[in-house]
Amino acid sequence: MIRMKTPVPGPKSLRILKSLKQKNGAWSVSYPLVFSGKGVGPYCEDIDGNRFLDFASQIASNPLGYNHPELLAVVKSYSDRFPIKYAGQDFIIREHLEMLEGLLSISPFSMDAAFLINSGAEAVENAMKICMRKRPATKFGISMAGGWHGRTLGALSFTNSNRVHKAGYMRFPAMRLPFNESAGAELERILRSEASADEIGFVLIEHVQGEGGYNIAPKKMVEDLRRITKANGIPYISDEVQTGMGRTGRWWAFEHYGIQPDVFCSAKALQVGAVVSRKSMFPEPGAISSTWGGGHIIDLAIGLKTIEIIRKEKLLRRNLLLGEYMLGRMRDIRNITNPRGLGLMLAFDLKDASMRDDLIVECARNGLLLLGCGQKGIRMIPPYVTAEDDADTAFDILERAIMKCSVGGFRHTGAVCDFIHCGRHIA
Ligand SMILES: Cc1ncc(COP(=O)(O)O)c(C=O)c1O
Repeated sequence: MIRMKTPVPGPKSLRILKSLKQKNGAWSVSYPLVFSGKGVGPYCEDIDGNRFLDFASQIASNPLGYNHPELLAVVKSYSDRFPIKYAGQDFIIREHLEMLEGLLSISPFSMDAAFLINSGAEAVENAMKICMRKRPATKFGISMAGGWHGRTLGALSFTNSNRVHKAGYMRFPAMRLPFNESAGAELERILRSEASADEIGFVLIEHVQGEGGYNIAPKKMVEDLRRITKANGIPYISDEVQTGMGRTGRWWAFEHYGIQPDVFCSAKALQVGAVVSRKSMFPEPGAISSTWGGGHIIDLAIGLKTIEIIRKEKLLRRNLLLGEYMLGRMRDIRNITNPRGLGLMLAFDLKDASMRDDLIVECARNGLLLLGCGQKGIRMIPPYVTAEDDADTAFDILERAIMKCSVGGFRHTGAVCDFIHCGRHIA
């Protein structure tokens, strides 16, 4: 149950936030609260004793909610050893292989190898690298308008959602396609008048765009791009960092389209970064690696257990059903536009960014955590362990908050504005 004991941020959170803001070189806080580690299922507590319903799921990286007993048991099973982190590409631990086997067991049959790395951006980076390595004539890569792939310079070059992420940074040669049904025609135009197929390193796509606005790829767009890339031997990379691991009701979002990519990336809910493909796509030994990749024992074991729990508890189907229910409730809300979603990856738009930010703060003050996306969107990404009653609680808070924020002249104020970047959001 939600329990609000103090304003947000409460006094204890405020002390840490003030100090952290001074000392942290980068500041991109979504919520002005400090997590205590307490909580159960979709509910989490801050250090001021407030209990929130978390429909932000640590930006989709906490699929099974807080303090899941089976995940706690995994953590405890490693409490008698050190180190917990190995230089995993060079010094082998059993969990590395177990994770690879778990990951491949939920991947298309033709994909028989994967590479583990530290983060989503690095997974994308390495997916691009393995494609380029096979294509020495590569002159540029292609991504989609509104796409978001991470903050390393390579992944960032193919990110096209918000100027703040890219301003001032050098870029790799990139072209972009519109995220709509004309994408295939545009790729054909590029092939006709700008470049030969072997000069195109890859086409990189999110089938549901995350940070860019929870935009769901049209079927024709995906089918056209897959057909053209296949016909021309251009590697097709699916970025499943946010969509993957069952969030959309299938293990991977590309499954909704009846296609298979050449390479896909996972991270977030998997707890480690991963590039999945055919063994023959990967380069010779030494071409890609990283000290920590495949070496964090608890991350590997938790990621593997997460796969097991999703499978055992049939959460893919549950995510589809709860997602349909939530979409239905969303469609009944007044003063919002464009309700959309696939499984538990749901969003809607507000009148403008300012109302979006007001709404996020107003919901947090009433115990519901949400995240922004796109220009004026709000995403709802509950953990897979969310019950229909919890969703109802969230929609009740949301509806009241929308009514309040719709009144002319309403604008959120208070200490919260010292910490969150009103008008901006994160990946
Ligand atoms: C689709 C997508 N790709 C890549 C990334 C980058 O992942 P990370 O933040 O782990 O580097 C994100 C992060 O939000 C993402 O949503």
